[in-house]
Amino acid sequence: MSNYDVDAIRADFPILHQEHSPGKPLIYLDNGASSQRPEAVIESMNDYYRRYHANVHRGIHKLSAEATDAYERVRGKVQRFINAEREQEIVFTRGTTEAVNLVMQTWGRQNIGAGDVIIATVMEHHANIVPWQMLAAEKGCTIRYLSVLDDGSLNMAQLDEWLATESVKLVTVIHTSNTLGTINPVAEITRKAHDSGALILVDAAQSVPHMPVDVQSLNIDFLVFSGHKMCGPTGVGVLYAKYDLLEAMPPFMGGGDMIERVTLEGSTWNEVPHKFEAGTPSIAEVIGLGAAVDYLEHIGMTSIHEHELQIVNYAYGQISQMDGVQVYGGADRGGLISFNINGLHAHDVAQILDSEGVAVRSGHHCTQPLHDALGISASARASFYLYNTREEVDVWLSAVEKARRVFAR
Ligand SMILES: Cc1ncc(COP(=O)(O)O)c(C=O)c1O
Repeated sequence: MSNYDVDAIRADFPILHQEHSPGKPLIYLDNGASSQRPEAVIESMNDYYRRYHANVHRGIHKLSAEATDAYERVRGKVQRFINAEREQEIVFTRGTTEAVNLVMQTWGRQNIGAGDVIIATVMEHHANIVPWQMLAAEKGCTIRYLSVLDDGSLNMAQLDEWLATESVKLVTVIHTSNTLGTINPVAEITRKAHDSGALILVDAAQSVPHMPVDVQSLNIDFLVFSGHKMCGPTGVGVLYAKYDLLEAMPPFMGGGDMIERVTLEGSTWNEVPHKFEAGTPSIAEVIGLGAAVDYLEHIGMTSIHEHELQIVNYAYGQISQMDGVQVYGGADRGGLISFNINGLHAHDVAQILDSEGVAVRSGHHCTQPLHDALGISASARASFYLYNTREEVDVWLSAVEKARRVFAR
């Protein structure tokens, strides 16, 4: 940690070198929604468009071969990044949302029926609730949601009870909560799910960008995440699934690239993972994701995680002392804090902070059921990343303090 050079990291991100308004530096604390990109990621995409843009998997010519090679190389990078066993276990999607929908439409439709149960949690992002509700409406299966305890952790007794008494086919859980910051015990949940014959899907949209995640040691069946939250571009994400599962799953979308042979009477499917990547993929974005993985690996995921823990522990220690400020979740958390100031709507808080140059998210953060359970309709959220500093946290804290003093009733 001592050689974690946050100034050098910040220098890599062109967008951070601007003033929000005269005399006020831009302080970006909305990384949970989307992170920023270093020059190396932006340049990797420019380079592709400038030097070797062509479609992938289809041309014999030099540019197409070069583009295909660059695109496919990223599969290997992502495989190593999350320690998947084989590179064919990496499917490129448009993001976390599409990856969950892929699993629902293929594995879910094939394996889940009336009378079956899916266990999710109250703290899931809508992306990991709505697709399963659509499946339940179609198939007549039931979704049970693990409740959240006061310290922001999951009700594990419910998990034990439901696994023992219900026909559970899938347990699905957010790894790091995008609202509470809770880092859920995925290894333990996976072990319990497997012991009762269920599979596990982990929403890693807020964990893979921030800490080392090893799908083999966690023994995860399905893992999903997005490029744009990990210094990569929008429009690209990843579904990791164990090879045998992918082999047995039907295709997601039909079209070019995902087929082996098409006749007027019918078609056969390409091999895994291409079976799941119909049409021209997001080539530049996949290449950008590869550059993001290189960048994060160069700094080191353990160092990034430690840096964020230092930042969030400091921030939590300060904000949880403030009178008239509600903080949601426990002290033990990943790098984000959702909060409210008594007497102010979260959108007003975000607007006041914005006038101080501090960008935070406000609203329900796509976790309406969790907000319902907390008895609130909205919260403000500061979410940190590898380039945020303690000085920025101090500016945020004084802006919160000012909002509380000047504006709160
Ligand atoms: C935990 C979690 N899951 C899923 C998503 C959806 O990601 P995307 O919009 O990139 O598909 C997000 C994004 O906010 C998230 O934080």
